[in-house]
Amino acid sequence: MTSTLLSGSGLRKAYGPTPALDGADIAVRAGEIVAVTGPSGSGKSTLLHCLAGVVRPDSGTMHYDGRDMSRMSDSALSALRRGEFGFVFQFGQLVPELTCVENVALPLRLSGIRRREAERRALEWMGRLEVDDLAAKRPGEVSGGQGQRVAVARSLVTKPRVVFADEPTGALDSYNGERVMNLLVTAARETGAAVVLVTHDAQVAAYSHREILVRDGKSTDVTAVEIP
Ligand SMILES: Nc1ncnc2c1ncn2[C@@H]1O[C@H](COP(=O)(O)OP(=O)(O)OP(=O)(O)O)[C@@H](O)[C@H]1O
Ligand SMILES: [Mg+2]
Repeated sequence: MTSTLLSGSGLRKAYGPTPALDGADIAVRAGEIVAVTGPSGSGKSTLLHCLAGVVRPDSGTMHYDGRDMSRMSDSALSALRRGEFGFVFQFGQLVPELTCVENVALPLRLSGIRRREAERRALEWMGRLEVDDLAAKRPGEVSGGQGQRVAVARSLVTKPRVVFADEPTGALDSYNGERVMNLLVTAARETGAAVVLVTHDAQVAAYSHREILVRDGKSTDVTAVEIP
């Protein structure tokens, strides 16, 4: 059993009078796929954003690899995100002016890797996600499912230890959703990346090792709970 890589405990966050998180807890082990489920507006995205160091909670703590993220400066947090985390969202995340291979290479370029080497690695990942033939196209010229696979390639190109995916298949039909999930899960397993996956879809949640249910900003680990 591997130990916890990333955790949040007692997380609270309010937007004005609205509590988005009201004391949520989550723990993610290395290489583990954790699904975060729950009704719309329950706080799933807010939980993911706190864990990823994108949003600072009002109270509560996050720990990554033994480090207290709540005590890290903004620049230390952004270095952590760049170096250790990958991100996939529902849609609209690719830069429309760049080709697909330039999009996938972008996180490497931002960390100072030369264009030729960055694009070579990007193409390798696009091959694994079965979109290498789209390298020269722009995001507006590919389908929704293809675009999501390009986005998954981009989330993995830096070999992150945690991939955060917020409704990565939310805009896809079930065939394409399944294809994206299969490839994401296979790639994560190969690299040992953990995945924190927000989803409405029970079929997508079935890919996970563990399920955290969020309701009214509070979390429950429902993995062991049987639905009557
Ligand atoms: N930036 C923000 N400003 C104001 N209110 C916000 C903001 N982000 C979230 N909220 C509110 O916080 C609550 C939780 O939102 P959150 O986006 O975390 O829910 P969610 O579970 O991801 O919902 P969905 O399934 O619809 O994506 C909601 O009431 C929402 O309106
Ligand atoms: Mg959301």
